[in-house]
Amino acid sequence: MNARTVLIVGLVALALVACMASDVLAQQPLKIGLILPMTGPFASTGRQVVAAVKLYVAQHGDVVAGRKIEVLLRDDTNAPETTKRYAQELVVNDHAEVLAGFGLTPLAFAAAPIATAAKTPMIVMCAGTLVIPQKSPYIVRTSFTLPQNTAPIAMWAPKHGIKKVFTLVADYAPGIDSETTFTRVFKANGGEIVGQVRVPVQNPDYAPFVQRAKDAKPDALFVFVPSGEGAAVMKQFAERGLAKGGIKFIGPGDVTDDDILDSMGDAAIGTITSHDYSAAHSSAENVAYVAAFEKANPDMRPNFMSVGGWDGMELVYRVLKKTNGSAEGDKFIAAAKGMSWISPRGKITIDPKTRDIIQDVYIREVKRVNGHLFNVEFDRIPSVQPDGAVE
Ligand code: DHB
Repeated sequence: MNARTVLIVGLVALALVACMASDVLAQQPLKIGLILPMTGPFASTGRQVVAAVKLYVAQHGDVVAGRKIEVLLRDDTNAPETTKRYAQELVVNDHAEVLAGFGLTPLAFAAAPIATAAKTPMIVMCAGTLVIPQKSPYIVRTSFTLPQNTAPIAMWAPKHGIKKVFTLVADYAPGIDSETTFTRVFKANGGEIVGQVRVPVQNPDYAPFVQRAKDAKPDALFVFVPSGEGAAVMKQFAERGLAKGGIKFIGPGDVTDDDILDSMGDAAIGTITSHDYSAAHSSAENVAYVAAFEKANPDMRPNFMSVGGWDGMELVYRVLKKTNGSAEGDKFIAAAKGMSWISPRGKITIDPKTRDIIQDVYIREVKRVNGHLFNVEFDRIPSVQPDGAVE
């Protein structure tokens, strides 16, 4: 063989190796480590997300860009140190290439250093504190932020006769985000805050706090509590007769969570909230989503946490198609930036600057529809930014 032939044979061999390597990659399953609270007080969040993830895979198939999708579910029981340990084990022992889930803010905070160290994409499907994506360059969020879901009700209220408000929030990062955003935007629109309380996240007794709110004689009580807690606050609101005293109930829509709304009874009727998702959203995409979700889970109604999980999977599938099956951290994040699609909740976009979500937020009122309580949307604020800014 002369030198030229050697070179050509060498190049062909190299090309073959490269092809084989990408074939090997293509044949390897892609493991997604899904970490959620499946037991304990926030188990409804885990249950909703798992139902949506399963439905997504059932509808879209478990192979994308030549890679078989395997979801490895871990129950962190809402304990941050457990989230962190599972994140590490999933990456190191199980070779998970994507981390996902994160039911509450402290759980997302706990996993972020692992995502950074391992350069592993981390999809926040649930938690809502604004700063979360700043905790790792490998975080992308498909849920919502509290400033985003709070600013619209803070603008709406003073224009609709609600001038004095008492705020009640869960005493941890998303509650503080919600309280701060509401106070700033409500005051800027002419509102007055007549009292503020922060209540424990774990096992709160809402009675004394709701009584204090009543005594302050506001036009409305503003509430943020995490998903699953709304019914307990609503019970106190009803029992202490706030509605009878002319006090309205407002907040971001976590409090009238679709997972439990129908069990709250007539006391919830008339509650006005702003939020990214309602099961009653009337788009064709959502009608199909709710029907498929309820067919697969006959005892459940999808809530806002479920769409965070659904769109988290949509993000993984879209990215893998764009990267030909690679979930390598920097490639994954570069591909995710600026992506946009129609979710069951409406149009959503991954902000290329913050890796956070930009989405429409709706103003809704709890009404009885065909015998069941729903958040009925009556206004839409388009493209609300993660920090709550509107166009
Ligand atoms: C968070 C959790 C929730 O259940 C919710 O409704 C909003 C925010 C959180 O911890 O970030």
